[in-house]
Amino acid sequence: MVRSAAVVLAAGLGKRMRSSLPKVLHPLGGRPMLLRVLDALRAVVAGPVVVVVGHGADQVERVLPPGVRTARQVQPLGTGDALRCALQVLPEASGSVLVAYGDIPLVRPDTFRALLAAHQEGGFAATLAVAVVDDPTGLGRVLRDARGQFRRVVEEADCTPEERAVREVNTGLCCFELRALRQTLPQLRPNNAQGEYYLTDVFGLLQASGLRVGTVRLEEVRDVMGVNSRRELAAAEAELRRRTLERLMDLGVTVLDPATTYVAPEVEVGPDTVLLPFTVLEAGTAVGRECTVGPGAHVRGSRIGDRVRVWWSVVEESEVGDDCRIGPYAHLRPGTRLARRVVVGNFAELKNTTVGEDTRVQHVSYLGDATVGRGVNVGAGTVTCNFKYGVPGKHPTVIEDGAFIGSDTMLNAPVRVGAGAVTGAGSVVTKDIPPGMVAVGVPARVIRRARREDGTP
Ligand code: UD1
Ligand code: CA
Repeated sequence: MVRSAAVVLAAGLGKRMRSSLPKVLHPLGGRPMLLRVLDALRAVVAGPVVVVVGHGADQVERVLPPGVRTARQVQPLGTGDALRCALQVLPEASGSVLVAYGDIPLVRPDTFRALLAAHQEGGFAATLAVAVVDDPTGLGRVLRDARGQFRRVVEEADCTPEERAVREVNTGLCCFELRALRQTLPQLRPNNAQGEYYLTDVFGLLQASGLRVGTVRLEEVRDVMGVNSRRELAAAEAELRRRTLERLMDLGVTVLDPATTYVAPEVEVGPDTVLLPFTVLEAGTAVGRECTVGPGAHVRGSRIGDRVRVWWSVVEESEVGDDCRIGPYAHLRPGTRLARRVVVGNFAELKNTTVGEDTRVQHVSYLGDATVGRGVNVGAGTVTCNFKYGVPGKHPTVIEDGAFIGSDTMLNAPVRVGAGAVTGAGSVVTKDIPPGMVAVGVPARVIRRARREDGTP
């Protein structure tokens, strides 16, 4: 970590997105792109970080992590004006400051490190990261003299036809000595095609005043691709997804079809797990080893143990123990916790429910606000009636270890089925059933002690 300051510019209108959401808040891999830039930056700098906000400032400020300062740019007068606003809240008079645009979400910490190192080792007043690209459309061109010395950056709208043909571009990452920057910013003038104060004019002004401007050439152009439109957003998303899947494959995960597998960058997956097509793993998810996930698994904010199978199912904010089998067509809603070897099968929905080891919920059931013990058989069509007409709130159901819930049992919560108790098919349980007893009918009545087929109670 280095003790330099950093600024992220995020006050622009983002017109080309055609969105009511500020551009820098559009998610990439499920996380606002501005936060991805901040993540990379904060992995490198330990000094103060200022985000310049303007368009949608309140919305942008709400997502910022604690410890980040903001500066308000009242009108989007250009990137140079935005940087000027940032310096007003940055008390430091000297030292280096890293500057990044908020719309380059694929940037990596190493790129910031390389830029800072080149800046400090070269003793430059400013250093900008440049790249040579096949298609420079929309980007600022880097102009050099006959000896290859940096002269200035010219924005596309202000280019002559010859300048337009230049393929060396400004990537949107730069570093300044604060002293030089503070002296130069007041000299910016908006006398250009867009009538804006261009940050990029600072480099030319510094160079012309006899100070040294350095450039660092980035080879991995995709790391600094700007997102200005929905098309570029999709391209960046595809790139991020490719990186994520390659990281997982390098860790020993099989991804059968990367084209239809969507994994958020922060997701962890253990070795020898196989991800099958049409699988979506959203942020906050961790999958263990030797699992088979998919086809058709959508998992969000959940922990999945080892050797679990999940297919054609949705799992939200839940915990799934080792060796469970989920699906097809199961829905684990928030607050579901399954111990080991639980089976949740076709058309079963669980919500805010804890299930013990070796319990099976194989077919067409709804368990809500329930605590289910070990080795329970939940018959087809079982429903916990947790929501009562005219009574506010949800009511709990408890099913103790080894109970056998007959098909089509309605459990009218709050209610408890004792350990080893049995309900008959189609019964409506309105009162607690003591352990070891059999209850049948509507409403269910206890008729006798439960007996196993082998005669043991
Ligand atoms: C900018 C650079 C261009 C570079 C390209 C790289 C300038 C003038 N141009 O162009 O040389 O090749 O990025 O991606 O700097 N912003 C503000 N306030 C403003 C205007 C913009 O905070 O008044 C912020 C935006 O929110 C955005 C960033 O600055 O995050 C860059 O602005 P944008 O309009 O996207 O600049 P580009 O046209 O892409
Ligand atoms: Ca941009």
